[in-house]
Amino acid sequence: MSGLEGQVALITGAARGQGRSHAVHLARQGVRIVAVDLCESIDEFFPLATREDLDETIAAVAEAGSEAIAVVGDVRSSASMKAAVDLAVNRFGTIDVLVNNAGIIKVQAIDEFSDHTMDVVIDTCLKGVFNTTRFVAPIMKAKRSGRIINIASSAAIRAVGYLSPYVAAKGGVVSATKSWAVELAEWSINVNALAPGGVDTEMLSGMAGQAGIDLDEYRERVTARHLLQEGGCVPVEDISAMVVYLAGEHASVITGQVFTVDAGMSAG
Ligand SMILES: NC(=O)c1ccc[n+]([C@@H]2O[C@H](COP(=O)([O-])OP(=O)(O)OC[C@H]3O[C@@H](n4cnc5c(N)ncnc54)[C@H](O)[C@@H]3O)[C@@H](O)[C@H]2O)c1
Repeated sequence: MSGLEGQVALITGAARGQGRSHAVHLARQGVRIVAVDLCESIDEFFPLATREDLDETIAAVAEAGSEAIAVVGDVRSSASMKAAVDLAVNRFGTIDVLVNNAGIIKVQAIDEFSDHTMDVVIDTCLKGVFNTTRFVAPIMKAKRSGRIINIASSAAIRAVGYLSPYVAAKGGVVSATKSWAVELAEWSINVNALAPGGVDTEMLSGMAGQAGIDLDEYRERVTARHLLQEGGCVPVEDISAMVVYLAGEHASVITGQVFTVDAGMSAG
């Protein structure tokens, strides 16, 4: 058992992909979910999730035996994340677990990035993690407990070209994780990062489109960096299982760590 029954988790980027999976896996442990997503697309990027996607997450959480609220919000905006945190507290009373999962990516050479594409990637993947954590930390401090799980990437550990703002932002997430682990340990708040390898979500197909490569071929290129080849992409359920573990009672003495769930990609 995870000991998570009755807790409240705020998950960003929860409308689809890994975020939805984390919501459902936590819901199966009896966790109530605050599902946050932008629910609109951004110019020059592949389509992001929609409001219908977010509603599907809410339905999936209900099917898993728990309850969820949908919050349309932008992790790039501190005001928007403050409002999301306030809504969560008004509805469920507290936040026990924060999963900083929202992300976006652009496959481009360093001399092709525009101000816009760099800002969107860095503001979403790095600043977005600050914009939630800074408002959730006081809630966790007040009750002297909490778990923060930041979704980084194996690309933050083993270098990958043509993704440099993303790689740099995810590297920043790893550094911020360690800094917050040191800072927040006094209040028994554990902060860890998860670094997935290639996961077969809309992000991966979006990257194939940005690179101008057929999806099957792109998937093969990504998984070619995995040491364990049999499974293809990293199963999203395996990442969610790690989220549940890090949120749960058996991870109480784990903080400031980066867990790669990447079929060995970062070891190679
Ligand atoms: N797919 C992979 O291969 C892979 C590998 C390593 C790490 N990751 C990371 O995993 C996380 C989940 O990605 P995914 O694979 O599920 O992709 P995804 O594109 O399916 O999900 C990302 C979600 O974030 C939301 N989002 C984007 N910008 C937002 C914003 N400004 N505010 C709020 N929500 C926003 C999107 O609408 C979407 O629902 C991301 O942080 C990603 O960087 C993905």
